[in-house]
Amino acid sequence: IKKQVYYILIGIVLIIMASIFGNYKYKEYKYHQTYEYKLLNHGYKGEDVTKILNNFSEKEYNYFLNNDVNENYIKLLDEKYFLKKNFYKYIEYMNNNKKLDLTSVVRNINIHLDKNFYEEEFNTDVSKDTSMLVNKYYLLGSDYAPSDLVTISQTYSWGDAGSQKTRKVTYDAFLEMWNAAQEEQGYYLMVSSSYRSYQEQEIVYNNYKKTRGQKYADSIAARPGASEHQTGFALDVSRLDIGLTEYFENTYEFEYLINNAHKYGFILRYPKGKENITGYSYEPWHFRFVGKEIATFIYNNNLTLEEYIYQYVELN
Ligand code: DAL
Ligand code: ZN
Repeated sequence: IKKQVYYILIGIVLIIMASIFGNYKYKEYKYHQTYEYKLLNHGYKGEDVTKILNNFSEKEYNYFLNNDVNENYIKLLDEKYFLKKNFYKYIEYMNNNKKLDLTSVVRNINIHLDKNFYEEEFNTDVSKDTSMLVNKYYLLGSDYAPSDLVTISQTYSWGDAGSQKTRKVTYDAFLEMWNAAQEEQGYYLMVSSSYRSYQEQEIVYNNYKKTRGQKYADSIAARPGASEHQTGFALDVSRLDIGLTEYFENTYEFEYLINNAHKYGFILRYPKGKENITGYSYEPWHFRFVGKEIATFIYNNNLTLEEYIYQYVELN
């Protein structure tokens, strides 16, 4: 009997040991199935694996596993304006533009600069109202017209009576600015162009195209549907004796506008040095109403509307 008990005990010990070992092996097997193990095994560092697991989903985990280890893919996540939905676009663009730094990669993709102007056209989200984006990627339909256009008094504008119109909110802000410029400095601002319908813009653009060619036309005028003037939020502002020439930038009136327009909700929409983003040559006269808060933010951070929208107000 003693011998039998002895064998039984040995048997039990063996079973326990086998099951512990088996359990260990099973757990190991299970761990090897996890993305954590696979990514580490693939060559990513522990902290990078944590970042991947925390920021992405299975589709991206597999993307990382199916491609060579690339530190830049992880560094993208640390970019201030990284948008997850653009991840694959960043990578493709980055691989095609190896000399660009990551910040530029993210910015360019966010604002569509990987595509040529007018190559990819979307509908402007007009529900964004004063912050709607109209540019060479986001266009308005031929039938879009704001419903609350008001006439700009001839006191402040060129042209025949009733020929200049703008949205009420733009006009109210303009009058506030006009009065301030007049009272504080004695300046007399004049609106040269305001609301333009799709059809009017078509005429403007086609005239330039006919006389100066498409390339030049595109650098100074929007194609129909792509003009901010169709929103009723854009005003071309200058001085009576100067009009819309670049010389306006040398005037005190211009200096007043660039330093103060944001207080009334306007931004200089096509600034110098940002031509590659806006798609237009410098226009010291084109002001866009976006409201005081956004205008002040854009002014303080030296942004274009494109940069503001894609970097701070993620579009879906
Ligand atoms: N001149 C501006 C860009 C326009 O045509 O809307
Ligand atoms: Zn303009």
